[in-house]
Amino acid sequence: MSRHVNGFASTRATRRRAPEVIYQNFYDFPHYYDLTFNGGSRREVEFLIQCFKRHARRDVRQVFEPGCGTGRLLPFFARHGFAVSGLDINDRAIDFCNNRLQRQGFSRAAILGDMASFRLAGKVDAAFSMINTFRLLTSGRQAMSHLRCMARALRVGGVYALGLHLTPVVGKPLCVERHTNGKGKLQLRTTVRTMGVDLRKRLEHVRITCHAKTPLRRLQIADDTLFRMYTLAQFRALLRRAAWFEIAATYDFTYQIDSPIRLEHDTQDVVVILRKRASC
Ligand SMILES: C[S@@+](CC[C@H](N)C(=O)[O-])C[C@H]1O[C@@H](n2cnc3c(N)ncnc32)[C@H](O)[C@@H]1O
Repeated sequence: MSRHVNGFASTRATRRRAPEVIYQNFYDFPHYYDLTFNGGSRREVEFLIQCFKRHARRDVRQVFEPGCGTGRLLPFFARHGFAVSGLDINDRAIDFCNNRLQRQGFSRAAILGDMASFRLAGKVDAAFSMINTFRLLTSGRQAMSHLRCMARALRVGGVYALGLHLTPVVGKPLCVERHTNGKGKLQLRTTVRTMGVDLRKRLEHVRITCHAKTPLRRLQIADDTLFRMYTLAQFRALLRRAAWFEIAATYDFTYQIDSPIRLEHDTQDVVVILRKRASC
């Protein structure tokens, strides 16, 4: 008999043999997700705060993250004195996020919802969605609907920082990303790999594989996810249609506030700072 804890088995036989493989949404494992991607969070937050200071045409006090997941960035903002809130479609991620906020003395400010169709109780001054979360909206209609919801959620002059990978039409796209992390006796090896692309449907098939190991257990999580693809031209066309916003600045994933970038056809990673216009 095997005993399943947090989705994986712990028999002696399992320990000696190959790890148990489960096919499941990686976001259902918020501890593993967070440990994998939390490394650069402080830097991202410092960069975003600089962006808000430089590009918002208003004081930024309230910040919101659609698709917040574990909310890895939210406690940093809260410690800087911002009122924070988040929204995600995954209830396990939301619980993780709220539990951490509460443990650190902040309110449980993340809610369950769909970032393509939501309405906040009150408006916010700034928002951010980093590391490709936006691309999880796999249709053009969802993407536009999200931007419409974000425009409604933001006060005039507020900004939305949107970080994503573009599909270069010049040069070779990045197609694998590896992370190795550890905490106590837990070791994680996570790979994010492009398995295929459908240029006509504009879909990238990505497999996330996470090997989790403790002295007693070994588990492999495999998650197949679809991301919408954007060439620079397609991204520009989308933003033109989202006329609620103007582009205040563009950066890359090095997050250097004094080094904005010019978007080119070989640009692969971009953080675009969208500012809500007065007339919409
Ligand atoms: C790549 S993770 C990013 C999490 C977080 N933004 C971060 O930077 O660590 C993507 C998150 O988007 C969430 N998500 C995917 N589709 C969504 C949707 N339609 N509405 C809300 N959240 C969604 C997933 O549950 C997951 O937590």
